[in-house]
Amino acid sequence: MGKIIRATQWRFRLVSFKLMKIALGCLLFTRKERCTLNHKNPIEVIGYSAHNIFDKFGRLLLAKGAPLNRLLIQRLERRKIFFQMVPQKGAGNHAATHLSLGIQDTRFQVPGQLDKKFERFDTEAVALASKYLNLLLADLMEDPFLSNNLKILAHGRRATYSHSINVALLSITIAQKLSLANAKLRELALGALYHDLGKMLLPKSVLDENETLCEGQCELYQQHTQLGSELLAADKLPKSIYLVALQHHEKYDGNGYLYGLAGDKIHFNAAIVAVADAFDHFTTAALQNPVLAVDEALHKIFTSKGIDYHPLVVEQLEKLFIKLSLPS
Ligand SMILES: [Fe+2]
Repeated sequence: MGKIIRATQWRFRLVSFKLMKIALGCLLFTRKERCTLNHKNPIEVIGYSAHNIFDKFGRLLLAKGAPLNRLLIQRLERRKIFFQMVPQKGAGNHAATHLSLGIQDTRFQVPGQLDKKFERFDTEAVALASKYLNLLLADLMEDPFLSNNLKILAHGRRATYSHSINVALLSITIAQKLSLANAKLRELALGALYHDLGKMLLPKSVLDENETLCEGQCELYQQHTQLGSELLAADKLPKSIYLVALQHHEKYDGNGYLYGLAGDKIHFNAAIVAVADAFDHFTTAALQNPVLAVDEALHKIFTSKGIDYHPLVVEQLEKLFIKLSLPS
């Protein structure tokens, strides 16, 4: 009887020991995991996306195999976006497709040879703005959240994408004259780059047929302002960025759309982008849209100072404009 009790006791001790080992293993694993999670470097790659990751609008956010770091994981979790990760060790042949996309892609750079329409502006100011925009574009490419919108634009209509780059370039050029602080300049540039993002959600037929004919009239076309601002707000970008998308067709006298806002009710970034947008629109060939010469386009904007456009913004454009000396 005593032998049976002793044998049971030993078996119990053995089981307890095994359980302790498992528990200790779990504890060590948890601590190891915690070490990884608390790693000091939030941008160190700790795994790769196991599949394409989409946001709630169905936009591709990260392609399968995109490298994931703690910062990205936090942002995905904060937005409650479903994803699965292949840990760094088991990543195997997963390639960093999404993040590397675009770094060498010339679409994500300001063209070396600028459009002739910029030749009549202070060349030094345009060159500085171009340099700033190139640095910003390179910086955006490092951030899959911010670059995603740019990639959507680049893969969409060519006209909308090149318009976005032109508007960003001129908006930055104007803002330099206003000596905006660095953070504000960045927000303005992002707002300008993404001001027409909502067009990506409109049917192609609406854009092709209505962009020039119905500018300011067609209800569906006008919705690109609302749609764009909703996309940007969903990306947790600040007001100073998504209000540019929402308000860049408002007029200083209140005769614009979408809400008929006037004067200082329009965000100043949107007021800057509105001027740059108009200039590029007037000087770009489009279906049924007579292209204006640079002088004509500028004259049209200058004469609408305080009516369609914010006077302070137009004044900066006037300062940038190089008048041609007419032969006597
Ligand atoms: Fe627009």
